[in-house]
Amino acid sequence: MTKAGFCKYPMSDFKKIIATKDQIEEIVSRMAGQISERYMGKNLLVCGILKGAFVFMSDLVRHMSVPAKMAFVKASSYGSGASSSGDVKITEFSDLAECRDLDVLVIDDILDTGRTFCSLKEFFYAKGAADVEFCALLDKPERRELEIPVSYIGKKIENEFVVGYGLDHNERYRNLPYIGALNLSACE
Ligand code: IMP
Ligand code: MG
Repeated sequence: MTKAGFCKYPMSDFKKIIATKDQIEEIVSRMAGQISERYMGKNLLVCGILKGAFVFMSDLVRHMSVPAKMAFVKASSYGSGASSSGDVKITEFSDLAECRDLDVLVIDDILDTGRTFCSLKEFFYAKGAADVEFCALLDKPERRELEIPVSYIGKKIENEFVVGYGLDHNERYRNLPYIGALNLSACE
C-alpha cells in the first residue's frame, strides 16, 4: 500500500519539490491572514481562475476570517503542454453581474507573463467592480511581460514548469498535495 496522497505519480516525473504540503499550508495561512485584514468590513467577492486555482482557493477561503462571496471564471492562456499561446480567453461560470460595487480579489495558482491578470482587471472593471486586486500562490518574475501590481504572492520561484496543488501539465498532476518542478523530458 502506498501512503495516501503521496505516490500518485512516479518521483522520476519531478526534478525537485518546490513546496511540500506543510510549506503550502504555512504560506496559505499567512496569505489568508493578510487578506482578512485588508478586507475587514468590505464587500468582498473572491474569484478563482479555473481550473488551476481550485485547490489553492478552497484552502485559502477556509483560512480567511472575513465573509466573502465566491465566483469562478475560466481563463486560458496555455494550450496543451508547457508553452503559452499568449491570448487569454475568459469564460464566466457564475453570475458576475453581481460583482457591481464589490471589491474583487482574483485568485490564480501562478503568475507568469501577467496576461491573465491584466485581462481580468479590464473584465471586472467593465462589470462595475469597485476595486480589483490579485493574489497568486506562485510567481515566476523572470517570465513577466506585462507589469501588474499583485497584492498577495505566496512564493517566488525560478523559471521552471511546476505542477501539483491544482497546477497541471496536460491535465495531469492537479491532485498532488505538494508542488514539484516537472521533468519535462520524462513526460514526452
Ligand atoms: P500568465 O497569463 O502568463 O500570467 O499565465 C498564468 C497561467 O499560466 C496560470 O493560470 C497557469 O494556468 C499557467 N501557467 C504558467 N506557468 C505554469 C506552470 O509552471 N505550470 C502550470 N501552469 C502554468
Ligand atoms: Mg491557469
